[in-house]
Amino acid sequence: IPIERIRNFSIIAHVDHGKSTLADRLLETTGAIKTNSENKQVLDKLQVERERGITVKAQSASLLYNYGGEEYLLNLIDTPGHVDFSNEVSRSLSACQGVILLVDANDGVQAQTVANFYLAFGKDLIIIPVLNKIDLKNADPDRVSKQLETLFDIDPTTVLKISAKLGLGINEVLQAIVTRLPPPPADRNLPFKALLFDSWYDRYRGVLSLIYIQDGQINVGDNISYHHTKKNYEVKTLSILRPQEESLSNLVAGQIGLVCCNMRSSSEAHIGDTLYRTGISVTPFSSFKPVRPMVFAGIYPLDQSQHINLRSAIEKLALNDSAVTISVETSPALGQGWRLGFLGLLHLEVFTQRLQQEYDAESILTAPSVTYKMKLKETKQTLKSGTELYVSNPVHFPDPLLVEEYYEPMVLGTIITPDRYLGAVMSLCLEKRGVQKSGTNIDNERVMLQFDLPLSEIVIDFHDTLKTISSGYASFDYEPIGFISTYLVKLEILLNGVAVDELSSIVHSSRAEIIARRMVARLKDIIPRQMIQIAIQAKVNGKILARETLKAYRKDVTAKLYGGDITRRMKLLAQQAAGKKRMKTVANISLPRETFIDVLRK
Ligand code: GTP
Repeated sequence: IPIERIRNFSIIAHVDHGKSTLADRLLETTGAIKTNSENKQVLDKLQVERERGITVKAQSASLLYNYGGEEYLLNLIDTPGHVDFSNEVSRSLSACQGVILLVDANDGVQAQTVANFYLAFGKDLIIIPVLNKIDLKNADPDRVSKQLETLFDIDPTTVLKISAKLGLGINEVLQAIVTRLPPPPADRNLPFKALLFDSWYDRYRGVLSLIYIQDGQINVGDNISYHHTKKNYEVKTLSILRPQEESLSNLVAGQIGLVCCNMRSSSEAHIGDTLYRTGISVTPFSSFKPVRPMVFAGIYPLDQSQHINLRSAIEKLALNDSAVTISVETSPALGQGWRLGFLGLLHLEVFTQRLQQEYDAESILTAPSVTYKMKLKETKQTLKSGTELYVSNPVHFPDPLLVEEYYEPMVLGTIITPDRYLGAVMSLCLEKRGVQKSGTNIDNERVMLQFDLPLSEIVIDFHDTLKTISSGYASFDYEPIGFISTYLVKLEILLNGVAVDELSSIVHSSRAEIIARRMVARLKDIIPRQMIQIAIQAKVNGKILARETLKAYRKDVTAKLYGGDITRRMKLLAQQAAGKKRMKTVANISLPRETFIDVLRK
């Protein structure tokens, strides 16, 4: 198929607006899969298989579509769909000339619609607006068209109206792809150059790379190089996804295809990397920034005998997710576990959900924390001023005397809510140290708010609280916007004067006191009473901010003595006091593991 008859596109949508259903319909209509009402979400099913490492299908597919008597190749390119993966989303979009912006005609524009729109818009892609679910009796396509016009300046006459479920309007979508999008700027006469935009691990064949061939061609047996690692491989097999794999002996510019080259580790396949023929230099696609994990959480098996099983489940998942970082962490209270680093909240959720499916015993996930940045002063240790330090684990918090400036990661949060919840949503954002950036009425009952928010304030329960205060109607999405200067402290928890590492945290100084009080009160509730009195203290920079005392059981060792022998009684009480003292001197408070589990569980 000549390049003029190739179109590359993605579907972008808020969760549940019907992306998978539309993809299935496009496959059916172009004959890639059989029409069958039971045939729902083929691509999603493939996705699940792929996660289990059984089969090897991406949600990307190459479709053949006949328009005006000519055959067109339409490449549907899957995107991870969330700005957590913005690096990866924008890499996938780099292989496209346009996107279908799919919006539920009943729900209207939601927070993720906005975030995704701007990603595509920023890449100068052509946007085909499509309203889905027009079969619903509450669907209001005119209102939603108006929202698109208000927010994105989209001409209502260009908006398509479909029902992916009933298969209405699908041909119009395919025609719009052919007529509104340009062919890719590919050149078959140049040396081979391809963009790696997805990869996954196959149990039998190793790492597979899904690539968009921008220039030239690639053949089985060719020697190719990956620019980032400078490693060379021999191409073993090539295939296209329709969506079942179809083997080919070569692929040419304009095509999307799957390369198998006996790659062993997914860490060799960097999303966004450039592939080229070994020995022939090409200009790589714009260099990509390595992604830094921004959200961390510890994970431990509930029962240490499950350690090996949990490890193998984590390793298996990590094979398919090169963005997650893993390091071993040992906690005196929780035993051996791991500290996992994620790109963002959704990434954490997706990973841990998959982990649950993969590993069917209970595990403990600690409350997530974020990465902070610190600029150090000039000292004997740092030698020069301005050394930067990234800290996510409170244990590594430096001595405040060494720190010149603290920084915390910020996000731009987008919230869309019916206006009756506006007051509650605003106070939530302010309580979370948010700074309002904009407020727009998107129609006469809905508002879009944008806030700069500290990432640390939204990692724990922001989304849940937002849903609760808006009866489920408000939607939220965010994108990272970098670090800003702030003031941080390490909040330590002391039990009878001894700091307990697992319970310490890094907090904004303005919040230290509230968090300190909450934490000690909570600990007082959950630490079981013991033979000795326990002082629970929260300390910041050498100062105690909060204190609670957990009274000892006064086990009355004399109860069994019926009055009488006073000397005997005195002796026993003295023994009891000595016992208490012994325990105190070693500060040996027996905290059951459950205590930590209760405190740390998110
Ligand atoms: P995620 O994969 O979770 O992001 O969702 P998605 O955007 O892929 O949505 P999906 O295709 O899974 O559809 C979400 C729900 O909407 C499903 O229950 C679909 O059956 C339903 N749905 C999709 N299209 C239509 C439609 O045209 N009309 C109606 N009534 N329901 C639809």
